[in-house]
Amino acid sequence: MKLRTVMMFVLALGISGFAHAAGEIVIKFSHVVAPDTPKGQAAERFKLLAEQKTGGKVKVEIYPNSQLYKDREEIEALQSGAVQMLAPSMAKFGPMGAREFELFDLPFLFPNQEVLHRVMDGDVGKKLFAKLDTKGVTGLAFWDNGFKQMSSNKPMHTVADFSGLKMRIQSSKVLGAQMKALGANPQVMAFSEVYTALQQGVVDGTENPVSNFYTQKMNEVQKHMTMSNHGYLGYAVIVNKAFWEGLPADVRNALTQAMKEATAFERDIAQRDNDDALAKVIAAKTTTVYELTPAERIEWQKALLPVHKEFESVIGADLIQSVNNTADQVAKEQAASAKKK
Ligand code: LMR
Repeated sequence: MKLRTVMMFVLALGISGFAHAAGEIVIKFSHVVAPDTPKGQAAERFKLLAEQKTGGKVKVEIYPNSQLYKDREEIEALQSGAVQMLAPSMAKFGPMGAREFELFDLPFLFPNQEVLHRVMDGDVGKKLFAKLDTKGVTGLAFWDNGFKQMSSNKPMHTVADFSGLKMRIQSSKVLGAQMKALGANPQVMAFSEVYTALQQGVVDGTENPVSNFYTQKMNEVQKHMTMSNHGYLGYAVIVNKAFWEGLPADVRNALTQAMKEATAFERDIAQRDNDDALAKVIAAKTTTVYELTPAERIEWQKALLPVHKEFESVIGADLIQSVNNTADQVAKEQAASAKKK
């Protein structure tokens, strides 16, 4: 080894040794939603646990509300190493070349959270994370938000009510097809721009779980919301792969444990957060909240189910089948346990 190489090696060791001792492993965690959402609160919980469990060797800096980056930019920032951790919604992985994540966007695919969690925590989740490996990204966990509701300035009861509506969507081709199947015009837009776009009439409406709707004050600019639960919005927590693999093993183990606990916390609060947000939307009285009737729901399903077939080749028929099998299994188990009671 040349002297210069040895010197650089010693220097690098010295710097990293110093950095660890001084608690200077910094994880910049960027996200686009408000702090008081399921994702925002879980990011805070992860920070607390990560700093505790590493004895202060790691510092987690959280940047909420698109403070650092908007949707697409944040993924690029993670890949380049400008930030270390994100939790984008799974509807945003397509532009990175991981279209299979759009499985979670398929309308009326997941009947309940139990099915979602089994799919995420099983082989499908593993397969999806394996897709990220070649993109310089490591998947750590799946976090919930919840089922999405439709909003706009006019009532949306039947499919015909969507005719010609300009609807903001996330960057997912499945969501584009979903809106088109309803007769609406989809428009991809960063989350941070939605409030203003709704206010100025650039778009007429959007879809989101109620926690996002309320914390972005969309109820101020949307007169109607339909509780349709037609699709799901959840997150994949991801890290820069080189950063993650470069961490000392004890630190990585502690962070893995912190993520596990933060994930349990997140999944526990997500539904409650959405319920609370709905109560606040109703109390604010700026948005009329409508429940779909069973017949209307069937009409929506009829219009939207063909989207599954349309995207089978992109997402993978095996992944879709796997969700359907899980749904059947869960339904069987639920029926059996209801019988016992
Ligand atoms: C959206 O863009 O509507 C959501 O993905 C925002 C989020 O991160 O929940």
